[in-house]
Formats: sequence, structure tokens, C-alpha cells
Amino acid sequence: MSTFSSKITLNNGIEMPILGLGVFDSGESTAPAVQCAIQNGYRLIDTAAFYGNEREVGEGVKSSGVPREEIFVTTKVWNDMQREGRQRESFEKSLRALDMEYVDLYLVHWPIPGKIHETWKVLERLYEEKLVRAIGVSNFLEHHLEELDAQANIAPAVDQFECHPHLIRKELREYCRARGIVPEAWSPLGRGEALTEPLLKKLGEKYGRTPAQIVLRYHVQNGVVPIPKSVHPERICQNKEVFDFALSPEEMADIEKLDCGDMHGDPDHVDW
Ligand code: A2P
Repeated sequence: MSTFSSKITLNNGIEMPILGLGVFDSGESTAPAVQCAIQNGYRLIDTAAFYGNEREVGEGVKSSGVPREEIFVTTKVWNDMQREGRQRESFEKSLRALDMEYVDLYLVHWPIPGKIHETWKVLERLYEEKLVRAIGVSNFLEHHLEELDAQANIAPAVDQFECHPHLIRKELREYCRARGIVPEAWSPLGRGEALTEPLLKKLGEKYGRTPAQIVLRYHVQNGVVPIPKSVHPERICQNKEVFDFALSPEEMADIEKLDCGDMHGDPDHVDW
């Protein structure tokens, strides 16, 4: 059975933790949340230029006392910088805000029509220059990945997409896995909305866990890397306690039946 310190090996040999902390909307609690997470064993922190808190992520990493090299930091290039052809500039800005010399994983935040290859070329160059340890995408559906594959020299290591019990994305997960792309889930708890499902409460009672822990266990068991966001120390600690129990195949299948296509960001209509 995997543990909280287990790693998954990306297609370029780099190791990535199998559960991390998301910081979208963490506001002024970002730095303390990052510090708390790292001091409690988290080694993966996921931010983005768009979140406007890369500086605070960098501060949280520093104040944790854990060496930078032991932390896996992800950030992403935002849409307007792709549209304007300023991807490189965006990366350099992120690096300055984080106050780091490199990023572990750099992602294309959303597929912008007509910009997929241009942006990817910039990411490939950053990888060749060793400014990023791995490159990947976010919110890419199968056809976006195919479009990328047609011209890419380097295959994406990760696809981070919205995935939770109300949007299970089974085909996309399988598509990624078949191509050696690690699937990563944003909003793994469905922004907390999915947690009210009676099934999750029932399973929580059976295993002595919270609905959030059942959902995170579901992701981990699927080989999907979840990055739950929380600014509360007790939840940050709770969310990592999912490695000492296992859901049965029937229970996993029951969770998948909660899918109702509840999508909060449509990758085919990126108009933001
Ligand atoms: P908070 O930051 O106040 O703890 P997601 O990552 O799926 O978007 O979910 C994030 C939402 O779920 C946030 O509103 C977060 O609130 C809440 N959340 C995070 N962890 C838990 C938990 N263990 N139990 C209940 N709600 C949680």
C-alpha cells in the first residue's frame, strides 16, 4: 500500500508526490497554509500565476524550514500571457514571485485555441534550459492532447484537470494513463460540494473517516494525484490521512455513480 511519502515517477524519471496542497483562493492564508502543510509532511504545493499568490507560496516554503529541493512546486502560465505570446515573460515573473531558481512542474493552465504549439515550444525550451524539472498541461481533453502530440518534441508529464465524484472523467483518466501522462485532480473535493453525498457519509462511517478522506482515498486508489485546497490546519492534516485504509472495488464503482457532469470550467470554451 502506498504511503503519504510515496512518489509517482513521471515520464522523464522525475518523482512527484502522490497528494499535495492546492492554494487557489487561499488569499492571505496562503503562506501559513503552505507552511503548515509542509511541516505536516506535504511535499507538493500547487499554485498558478493566475492565483496571484506565488509570492506567498515562496514565503510558506521558506518559513517551513524544509529545504527547497525537498518540495515539489507546480505553477502555470495563464491564458492572457499565452494569447499575447508572452509565455516566457510569464514564467520569469512566476520564478521571481516564488523567489526560486527553478520550478518542479510547469503547466499550460488552459488550452487556448491556436496557441497550444506556441506555448508548448516555450515550455520545452524552459525544460531544456533546466529551469523546470518537468512540463505538462492542465485542462486538456483528449483532443487537446492529440493536437499537442502532433507537434510536440516532449510529451506532457502530467494533465491536471477538474476531477471529483460529480465529474469523474474516467475516459480522460484512462487516456492519460495509456500514454504515460499522470492525471492530477483539481478541485478533488468538488469545492467541498460533493462532500454532502449520503454515500460518502456512509462510507465515512464504515471506515471511521470524513467524506473528504473517502474522496481523497478514491483519487489515490485511482492513481490520480489530488491537490485538495484548505486553509485550515486541521483539514490540511485530515486530508493526508488516507493511506491506511482501502475502498473495495464495489465502493469505488459506487462513488463513480455519483458523476453528474458538474463541470466548473469547460476546456472547450475558454473565454477567460
Ligand atoms: P477550507 O479552505 O475552508 O478548508 P477543492 O480542493 O475540491 O476545491 O475543495 C476545496 C474546498 O473544500 C474548500 O472550500 C475547503 O475549505 C474545503 N475543504 C478542504 N478540505 C476539507 C475537509 N477535509 N473537509 C471539508 N471541507 C474541506
